Amino acid sequence: MKRIFLVSGARPNFMKIAPIIRELEKYPEKFEPIVVHTGQHYNYEMSKIFFEELNIPKPNISLGVGSGSHGEQTGKIMIEFEKVCLEKPPDLIIVVGDVNSTLAAALVAVKLHIQLAHIEAGLRSFDRRMPEEINRILADVVSDFLFTTCEDANLNLKREGIPKDKIFLVGDVMIDTLFANQEKIDSVQKYKDFGLDSKKYALLTLHRAENVATKNIMKNILEALNEIVKEIPIIFPIHPGTLKQIKKFSLSDYFCDNNNPKKIRLIEPLGYIEFQSLLKNSKLVLSDSGGLQEETNVLNIPCLTLRENTERPITLTKGSNILVGSNTKMIIDEAHKILNGKSDKKANYPTLWDGKASERIVKVLREKLFK
Ligand code: UD1
Repeated sequence: MKRIFLVSGARPNFMKIAPIIRELEKYPEKFEPIVVHTGQHYNYEMSKIFFEELNIPKPNISLGVGSGSHGEQTGKIMIEFEKVCLEKPPDLIIVVGDVNSTLAAALVAVKLHIQLAHIEAGLRSFDRRMPEEINRILADVVSDFLFTTCEDANLNLKREGIPKDKIFLVGDVMIDTLFANQEKIDSVQKYKDFGLDSKKYALLTLHRAENVATKNIMKNILEALNEIVKEIPIIFPIHPGTLKQIKKFSLSDYFCDNNNPKKIRLIEPLGYIEFQSLLKNSKLVLSDSGGLQEETNVLNIPCLTLRENTERPITLTKGSNILVGSNTKMIIDEAHKILNGKSDKKANYPTLWDGKASERIVKVLREKLFK
């Protein structure tokens, strides 16, 4: 019997661990999955709602670290997670994605000589100013199993000297969750709550440090959105960190919390099902999220990515994603093209994004952990 810690901490982790747990649970004689929640995200709507909706078992272990600077957050998670690992060491630690919790748990694993698997390995933006890029590179370098979503991730890892026999191209676990929940998503028509019609609104998310830490950059983006909202309503489930920044920079005038058609509509962060319902019915997405670049592709929705680069270039070369950075004119121009039907971008995604990535991951673990 192999004891497996699945570490999650921040919102984008939860939909990635859900399908892996489900798959591990199919082999109760082989695996004992244990959910560890670091507490990086702690609000109900940033964390608990995902456990409820995605049927993730309640965390067996909660580290409760909360917010803090990068060093503080990463350090606190390491201190608390090491204690737990020493108490009753697992046979394998699984980390997902690129958040501070991912890196902290990975470092603890390698220092205690516990085997480590990184899900979503090999993605690179080649921008080392991004905390997520550092988290990805370091987690990969200390992992024993590197599970990748697409071919270019494999190429990145090979270039960095990671031995071939550690790399497994399995597809995208986030898409497993998207496919598994289609029925539930379709049973909700969240846009109706805001008096909107399907395919007649744009969906916005914005939280990356590079966009919200500086007033000028945030303003460049908001100026563009202020133009776009004259043509199509924009709905914005807001990250609590971004809300703080808006207040700090006195930028509240760009927003409203009612049906005023001339302003961006601010709403609370949503759970998985309601957010996916809004996403599926949107005409256009504007976002600096990592995962949305993949989800919009599978759903064939044009996505303007408010970043200078992406660790998911496959969504640009093959898919419906366009990089617009924080350039006001470029954001407006590209949005116009889409709204006037002049964009030639079409969704096209890897064949392994088929809802079976976690099945492939667990197959590898069944073979390799029981040699
Ligand atoms: C983290 C990830 C980012 C991911 C994002 C998704 C890192 C380096 N970044 O960024 O890759 O895209 O999560 O949300 O790990 N806050 C709350 N309540 C919460 C969580 C956060 O109020 O439940 C506020 C706190 O003020 C906190 C701020 O949001 O200081 C930022 O949270 P943090 O976890 O540090 O990073 P994110 O910006 O969420």
